[in-house]
Amino acid sequence: MERLPGFRDFYPEPLPNQDVWSADVRNHIFETWRAVARCYGFREYDGPPLEPLELYIAKSGEEIVGQLYNFTDKGDRAVALRPEMTPTLARMVAAHERNYKKPIKWFAIPQLFRYERQQKGRLREHFQLNADIFGESDPAADAELLALLIDTLRAFKLTADDFVVRLSSRNAWQEFFNQRCSDPAKAYDFYQIIDKLEREDPAQSGAKLTALGFSLDDVRAFIQAAEPTAELALILANLVARGLSDFVKVDYNVIRGLAYYTGPVFEAFDKKGEFRAIAGGGRYDNLVKQVTGGKVNLPGLGFGMGDVVLTELLKARGKLKIQVVGLYYDIFWLIEDESLRLESLAYIQQLRDSGRAVDYPLTGVKSDKQFKRALEIKARVMFKLARTGTGLVFSVRNLIAKEERETTDFEEACKIAEAWLSSLS
Ligand code: HAM
Repeated sequence: MERLPGFRDFYPEPLPNQDVWSADVRNHIFETWRAVARCYGFREYDGPPLEPLELYIAKSGEEIVGQLYNFTDKGDRAVALRPEMTPTLARMVAAHERNYKKPIKWFAIPQLFRYERQQKGRLREHFQLNADIFGESDPAADAELLALLIDTLRAFKLTADDFVVRLSSRNAWQEFFNQRCSDPAKAYDFYQIIDKLEREDPAQSGAKLTALGFSLDDVRAFIQAAEPTAELALILANLVARGLSDFVKVDYNVIRGLAYYTGPVFEAFDKKGEFRAIAGGGRYDNLVKQVTGGKVNLPGLGFGMGDVVLTELLKARGKLKIQVVGLYYDIFWLIEDESLRLESLAYIQQLRDSGRAVDYPLTGVKSDKQFKRALEIKARVMFKLARTGTGLVFSVRNLIAKEERETTDFEEACKIAEAWLSSLS
């Protein structure tokens, strides 16, 4: 039975082939995401992977709605696997915002599902770091979020030569639109054309723009000028103060496909332009209001960073040389005398209770095979229990220094092992 197209199997290292993904790399990415988010004071949350279909209709925009994994459940409810986290988060925050001090700074690492055409950097499921702030309309919050995005990529040892955050503003485009068109109903279609400008044939974009009453040359001149709005200038000055200005540039090609963005928006790309966007986000000051039918009104902003493009980029730039230890144990317990298996289990249990990773043979195996296994799993210390004429003796072996000690006292044996383990770590 094959897995579904666009879905992934995550195997422990070393990987059996190139067609599968590494569970160790995934852990490394999640741990890094969590560590940086916590440095910025973000708290972790989560929500359900299945939501009412309605949550996405009209909130996320046509593109995502067209990619939904949706169905009718056994209770006749129209439901969808979450294609993004933001609507869930807006619902969660709106329900209990009074219990939390503002600004609310939260992060999550959800698995998301989009029925997209499978291509490089695009699968039908992916994990996404989401970091969002609620209750702050000052551009200082936008800058804080951008700094978190930049520092997250820096934590993977990516530099300003590897990536850039392209910063734009829906307000700037809104103004451009208002100066040239008096029909607000055309705004969404206009944004969609701008969003696809870099990917679409210019003749096609030009024709679509003309149909709406705009000109491609006019749009291009606006992008070319890249004149920061007052709001973007504040964000840039904030990032300059942090020494992070090399990582950002104003780029009005970015407008974001999702429907709910209202202010500054941004996307992170690799500098060589080989990959799809690594991350994207922006301000969405009306989403909470929309989700609650006007009952709660809280400004919000955030970004999502996917694991697929990030992993591809880190691999391509040689930044994934994490020490994948594979199997990892501190201690191997050799059982030579099967009549001592139950006693051995009692001691193994004590070692594990003390926090040590211990392996042992589940069934009777020859000692030389056990010894080989101890080396394979890179155990640093080996224990063995044996009978002597007078009672039991523990032998403790330092597998690195090839030194062995014997004692009849388990506590003493543990002390020897601990001293070795701490000197060897
Ligand atoms: P998004 O731009 O749709 O934004 O996704 C963010 C990132 O997730 C993308 O830049 C990309 O790296 C990754 N991604 C998206 N779709 C796929 C896919 N099919 N396969 C692999 N990776 C993918 C959002 O989802 C917003 N909700 C982010 C946000 C949070 N805005 C505010 N707060």
